Amino acid sequence: MKKLFPSYVRVPVIFAFVLVALEYFIDSGDKPAFVKYPMVALFLGVFLFLLVAIEIVVSAVDKVTYHLLTDEQKQKLEEAQSVSFTESKFYQTWMSKLTRSKAIEQEADVMLDHDYDGIRELDNVLPPWWVNLFYLTIIFGVIYLVRFHMFGGDNQEQEFKHEVELAEAELLNSKSASPKEVITADQVTLLTDKESLAKGQEIFKNVCVACHGPQGGGVVGPNLTDEFWLNGGGIKNVFKVIHDGSPRNPTMAAWGKTLDSKDVQKVASYVLSLQGTKPAGGKPAEGDKWTEEAAPTADAAKPADSTATAK
Ligand code: HEC
Repeated sequence: MKKLFPSYVRVPVIFAFVLVALEYFIDSGDKPAFVKYPMVALFLGVFLFLLVAIEIVVSAVDKVTYHLLTDEQKQKLEEAQSVSFTESKFYQTWMSKLTRSKAIEQEADVMLDHDYDGIRELDNVLPPWWVNLFYLTIIFGVIYLVRFHMFGGDNQEQEFKHEVELAEAELLNSKSASPKEVITADQVTLLTDKESLAKGQEIFKNVCVACHGPQGGGVVGPNLTDEFWLNGGGIKNVFKVIHDGSPRNPTMAAWGKTLDSKDVQKVASYVLSLQGTKPAGGKPAEGDKWTEEAAPTADAAKPADSTATAK
């Protein structure tokens, strides 16, 4: 019998089969397993190498043994190899087992005695492949019945809903696992704990001092230690001007772009902790005097309106 597949078909087929099996069994998320895990790529490489090596060795051994054969044996081998697959003994036995069909010469044995205008009928047995398939469907049907109708297994719709629920729960989990809490001007509160103020001071020293002076007395930027504000006082307005920048003077940049909103809150709290410190050489007051009571719900959007109390 001839070999069923030539090696240039056999090797890629086996390799593809193993590759697909690995992808199926290794959970590698959205990336292919051999990309995510270098070990898998290494394994595949070695596997392919071995496959090719085995093919080469086998064909070499075949060639060598062929040369060792006597002429008679060679002839026999060639005869055996010239038989096509469908003529092979293996194929023939299996086909007869699966079909149990009668050879044309034996048809007389199963001939029925009806005769419909010359058309006659054979009483062939049902082919075993068909009968066994039929039994399998019965077994399948019983299992299906028990699983889904007696023990209430999920149908496709329920399965789908269940999976969506799971995915949603997972999404929620991954969101709460890395909470990126963003503070906005509306909900910001004044921090007074030492730690936050120390962190605020550190940020102030690093980025704000150049324009507002080491103690907040003001250089290019205004004095931050008095109660007069250009953009409104109170934690909400101060947070807003630091986070979004001054609407009237671009020199005061929107630090929310570079600082985390929590850090803006800390530095804003630090700035407000400087109230009334009167550092030496501080700039004269600019803007309107801010009284917290005058604007209990400090409207961050329109600070100028809500602060106009006294000059
Ligand atoms: C490049 C210079 C510069 C830097 C750096 C700078 N500011 Fe300012 N800042 C200004 C100027 C100029 C103003 C005045 C804006 C205006 O006229 O509205 C200002 C205004 C402010 C105000 C509002 C004051 C008011 O009276 O309304 C606050 C609060 C403030 N800055 C805090 C900070 C903090 C905190 C930092 C560091 C994260 C900082 N600034 C960094 C220049 C700067």
